[in-house]
Amino acid sequence: MKVMVIGRGGREHAIVRQFARSASIERVYAAPGNDGMRLESELVPIDEMDFAALAEFAKEHQIDCTFVGPEQPLTAGIVDFFEGQGLRVFGPSKAAAQIEGSKTFAKELMAKYDIPTAAYKTFSEIAPAIEFIRQMGAPIVIKADGLAAGKGVVVAKTEEDAIAAVHDMLEDQKFGESGSTVVIEEFLDGEEFSFMSFVYNGAIYPMEISQDHKRAFDGDRGPNTGGMGAYSPVPQISAETVEATFNTIVKPAVEAMAAEGAPFNGILYAGVILTAQGPKVIEFNARFGDPETQVVLPRMKSDFGDFMNALLEGEKYELEWQEQAVLGVVIAAEGYPDKPVKGKVLPNLASLSGVDIFHSGTKATSEGFAANGGRVLFISSEGDSVKEAQEKVYAQVNALSWSGFMYRTDIGWRALG
Ligand code: AMP
Ligand code: GLY
Repeated sequence: MKVMVIGRGGREHAIVRQFARSASIERVYAAPGNDGMRLESELVPIDEMDFAALAEFAKEHQIDCTFVGPEQPLTAGIVDFFEGQGLRVFGPSKAAAQIEGSKTFAKELMAKYDIPTAAYKTFSEIAPAIEFIRQMGAPIVIKADGLAAGKGVVVAKTEEDAIAAVHDMLEDQKFGESGSTVVIEEFLDGEEFSFMSFVYNGAIYPMEISQDHKRAFDGDRGPNTGGMGAYSPVPQISAETVEATFNTIVKPAVEAMAAEGAPFNGILYAGVILTAQGPKVIEFNARFGDPETQVVLPRMKSDFGDFMNALLEGEKYELEWQEQAVLGVVIAAEGYPDKPVKGKVLPNLASLSGVDIFHSGTKATSEGFAANGGRVLFISSEGDSVKEAQEKVYAQVNALSWSGFMYRTDIGWRALG
């Protein structure tokens, strides 16, 4: 099989690597990919949003399956475009990707099908939004309705902070069009985890769960980011909770999308908080999480190419996972998430041992890899436990000098407390 992975981040690097390891995959293309993926794939210099050129390339090179990583091409309809040309592609249609692309759509779906989530209201005017905040009290959560790369969420500790966030989004358009409507919702208190599943024609294959760290700084302080580190498994979440999440959230969501005439194919990502009343959804994504993918996919024991083939052919498959834990840390450019500084050269990664390195925002230069985006690298280790994986990865990462970069030093702390 020949596959093409669309996207250029750490998540896509993990997908590329997993395909490259597969015995049934003869060639992996990455469009556009990044310089760090060159050892495992052939880079195709076509932008994620240039659907016509991507489809043309897939035809010319007889790609058997295109795997779409990021949300932007999905919500813009890349899957519909490929399928319209008779090309095999894995991901949700434009209609199904609304489960991520519009928080209002996701919230209305959950209300209609009794999928547990935070109570909420949607606003596009400031005055009624403020009135609702005053009525609900703090803490309270303000979200831009559309896509905002994980940054369009403010968890406000006070009513004043909440009102300021509403002004930022509705009046000052801090998130542009994405924030012209805001969702204001109840604050959910509890342990958070990411539950991702492969979904195709009604078949659902859940993956091992993971936990991301959304805040920029140690101790879960600072602004929300795309994610600063992750680990899998999540020992503080029981098997019963995982099963309850599947039965009350994941399966009903897949069935709901089909009932709505927008059947979901692809990776369904449920961001869940385990509250005192059980697991509740904080968000759905229509794709793999970044950096969750970098800790979950490497734990797949089954051959990824064989599995994908079986999934797309509608054949039953026994999907197996490793016991080993994986924990990894994001290396970001200094200033991330607001003003990441580009161009800084990375320290010599060749001296690291016992780690996996995934590139997200790097560029090859004559002096070595340099920062070319907010999140730059993801470095992970395996271990018999989350603690062992954590010790291994930090022993390596801390041995290098990271001037011009930043990373959290406490990834995994909730599992170890
Ligand atoms: P989202 O982009 O919707 O995943 O939100 C980013 C982060 O904000 C989540 O990962 C949570 O940590 C936090 N968050 C979002 N919604 C809520 C909520 N209703 N209650 C508590 N925390 C939330
Ligand atoms: N790491 C969270 C996300 O991919 O949305």
